[in-house]
Formats: sequence, C-alpha cells, structure tokens
Amino acid sequence: MKLSRRDLLKAGVFAGAATALPLQRFVSGADSLATRMPASKLPRPFSSTFRRPSVITPSISTATTDYYDITMRAAQVEILPGYQTVAYTYNGQVPGPTIRVDQGRQVVVRQANQLPAMHDRLGYEPWTSVHLHGSASLPQFDGYASDITRPGEFKDYQYPNAQPARTLWYHDHGVHHTAQNAYQGLAAMYLMSDPLERSLGLPSGEFDVPLMISDAMFHSDGQFLFSLDDESGMWGDVMLVNGVPWPTMDVKPRKYRFRVLNCSISRSLNWRLSNGAPFHVIATDGGLTAAPIQVTNIRHAGAERYEVVIDFAKYKPGTLIQLLNNSPKNNRDDTNTNRIMQFRVVSGSFPTADDNLPSVLNPNNPVMALEESQAVNRRRFRFERKNSQWTINGKTWKDVEDSGYRYTVAQPLKDSVEVWTLENSSGGWFHPVHIHLVDFKILDRNGRPPHPWERGPKDVAYVGENETVRVLVRFEGRGKYMMHCHNLVHEDHDMMAQFEVVDPSMPGDDPMGTPARPLDQMGPLGQ
Ligand code: C2O
Ligand code: CU
Ligand code: CU
Repeated sequence: MKLSRRDLLKAGVFAGAATALPLQRFVSGADSLATRMPASKLPRPFSSTFRRPSVITPSISTATTDYYDITMRAAQVEILPGYQTVAYTYNGQVPGPTIRVDQGRQVVVRQANQLPAMHDRLGYEPWTSVHLHGSASLPQFDGYASDITRPGEFKDYQYPNAQPARTLWYHDHGVHHTAQNAYQGLAAMYLMSDPLERSLGLPSGEFDVPLMISDAMFHSDGQFLFSLDDESGMWGDVMLVNGVPWPTMDVKPRKYRFRVLNCSISRSLNWRLSNGAPFHVIATDGGLTAAPIQVTNIRHAGAERYEVVIDFAKYKPGTLIQLLNNSPKNNRDDTNTNRIMQFRVVSGSFPTADDNLPSVLNPNNPVMALEESQAVNRRRFRFERKNSQWTINGKTWKDVEDSGYRYTVAQPLKDSVEVWTLENSSGGWFHPVHIHLVDFKILDRNGRPPHPWERGPKDVAYVGENETVRVLVRFEGRGKYMMHCHNLVHEDHDMMAQFEVVDPSMPGDDPMGTPARPLDQMGPLGQ
C-alpha cells in the first residue's frame, strides 16, 4: 500500500479517534505497481467478444412508478479471460444493470449496501452514495457525497424523469471513496426515452448500443490494482468496453446508434475510427442535438456522454474497423491504451425501418435556446492544485464538511440564468468539470467556439490544460448540489464544492435529510 505523506498525516490523525469519527478521511490507500500483471499475460486486443450490459426489469410497476431492487455487493466476475476478479457490483454485474425508462414515469431504486465492512486490500469502509448522473433529482436523492449508506444499510432513491430523453448513468459517489468504488464496478447505464426521440426512427433495439469505456489495471492474480499516482489519477493499462478488454463486436452493414460513456476514473480519450471515416454526433450529456453533427474524432473526458451514429453500410463483410484513442495529454499511456475496441462487419439480413439518421433531431432544446444576454450573474471558478490539494477557488469539500454542510460557492436564484467561467490555468492536468442538477450550454473555450461535438446540452465540460470554458446555465429546482472535477481521484482528494439554488418562496430539501437505514428495517418495496 502506497500512501502519500498527506495520507499518512491524515491517517495518523485519524487513528486515535477511529471510533469517534463517523467518517474516515483519506484512510484509503492505493496498491503498489510491483505486483502488476505483466503485459505478456494481458489479453490480446480484439480477441474478446463484445457484450452489452443486461437490462433490469422492475420488481414492481404501478400506474406511475417502476420500482427496482439493487444490491451492492462484492462478486467474482471474469474480466480478463481465465481470471476471477472480485468486483464491487450492482447486482453482481460489471457494468451494473441498465435501467430503461420513459419520460414521465417515476423510478424508485432501492440500493442495499451489502459490501464488506472493510475493503480487505485497500483498507477502507465501502460506504456508498448513489448518484444518477444526468438527472435533476431532489437533493436527498442526488447521491450527495456525504449522504452515505454504510455496509448494512439501504436507501430508496426517487427519480422524476421529467427531462428530455438522454443517456444517464448511475455510479457511486461515496465521499472520499468514489474513485475506488466506481473503479471496482459500481457504474451502470440509465437510458431515458421520450416521445420526440421515439418519433425520430433512430436505430433501436439491437442497433442501439451502450459503450461504457473505462481503463483498469490488474494484479498478477487477476485482482483489480488501484494506483493513485500521487493523487493525480488512476490510469490503467487495459481498456475495457462494457467490462470486456478490447472487445470485437460484430456489426451488420447498416447504421448503429452508440451511446458512448467514458466511465474511466481519470482517463480522457480522443477517439476515432481507424479508417478515418466520419460519423455523426446525435446527442450529448443532456440529450439530442439540434441536428446530426459530422465529426471524425471526439475528445471525451470522464462522465461525458456522446451518442453517435456510425454507418457500416458501405463495408464488405469481413471488414475490420477499430476504435482508436489518440490519448490527450496528461494521461498515462501504456502499450495498448491507444486501442479501444474493434468492429467486424458481418453479412446477414437486418430490419431497415430504423436504419435512419434524420436530418433534424431536437431543434428546441430549452438549454440550447438560452442566450448570454439572459444572464443575470457571472461567476468564476478556478480549478487548481494548491499545497498538494485539488481545489476549487482555493476550497475543498473539507470546507463544506467543516461548515456543517452549509458552505456554498454560489447561490443562484431559482430560474435565473448565469454564466459560469471554469478556469484551469495549469498545463499539467485537465479537469472534466461536472455541475449537478443542471444542463448547460458551452459558450466558448478560450474565447473560441466549442468543439463541434460539444454543441449540445452538457453537464460535464472538458476543461483542458490552460483552458477557460464559459457555460450558460438556467438553475431550475432548489437546494444544495455538488460541483466537482470528474477525475474521481481529484474529486476524492477534494476538488468538490456545492452551490445552492435559492427559491425565496421555500427552502430546498436537505441533501442529508433522508438518511440510509439499517437493512433489518427494510419494508416491502413500493409501500
Ligand atoms: Cu458523475 Cu457528481 O458525478
Ligand atoms: Cu451528476
Ligand atoms: Cu481534476
């Protein structure tokens, strides 16, 4: 276990008061690279078969609501062929089960934490907090980092699903252990549809495919290796898609809709097709773009979602096309981190009714219609490393904790529009900045228009080296929500703040106001 000096200090301070403090800070260690699986034992790229995450069916459905039961538990899964890896899972699966829902239906997910009381190797208590990323959830159901569910407890999360159709994902957000928990498997898709999206005739069913891209590293016995790299991030040497190393996917000669999520802990990608062929972006984090946007590559940081349509119609059966990665700077690369997956075009018949790419998608997204002139307030947030801490305007989540969760960095008025400037003046790292609750429109980056693929509703902005990104936001809802870097190692080491959307007519709900309860107090779901 490699601990930084700061970790040791924190752990030392903590050791004397272990039973008094409900929350440990920075006990989490990282593994040593000494026992890393040698490259010669890793699978050959493209030798594994692609698979999709399973879709979960509700335990109960009423006229208005779907209820799901999910257990967070340690399970053995096969990620590297021939090895069993202990993962932290939703329902025993990596990635976790996909939830599908139509706009307007409520969803309640019961999340029971049956993880071990202590991680045997990393020596931390795997408390959890489940965040549905992309959802305007109430504060108490948003996966507020400090609203933890400890092993032996459960919490019922409610989701309104009132927003436009989009690709969301749920993942762990437990304070200080988000990176370890998500890394070991606590991440899954959540796909919301709506009538407009269904009317477009986009590729559907087997042609609507989630691609959850991540990276990982393994010990020689096949267990996950978690390396902190001086708290700058966790960079693996194996690229996974839906939990499979460098898979090959058979595709028919037609259009596919891919929902591409980078669920890496720290790694950003700049991906493209090996033959240089263009493809079309049809949706970003917050849903459909106005029209398809033709691109040949996407710079894609953690937690960003880009939906693309790739057309394989012009390829002969047997054609092989790889999804490759031109690693953006300040990632740690390895022999095969420049490859992600492969498509193999196969012959065979296929339905054609949904073999479509309409020329108009959603021209009326309310966020994209916002104008800078509507902004009533401007705020600036600096993301920087200071005294070996990751900070936002010089503050960390510790400041929030020390204030009894009162301290906020901004108090926008409900329904007001603001311009937030996200600034990274370092050349040494990039920060994918995520603002909870809202969708935003990227106005510009260093004064220039956003990249073509970013011209849709977003909730994460890639704030690269020496970049300043301005985003335009309308704050609907009320209450306290987090904003943080989605390099989850930065987030855990404490680049996280909160803002409060203020509604003068009534206070927001308390993000800690609906705490988890012991498993033995669990009543039947849906009552
Ligand atoms: Cu995807 Cu606050 O996180
Ligand atoms: Cu989020
Ligand atoms: Cu960061």
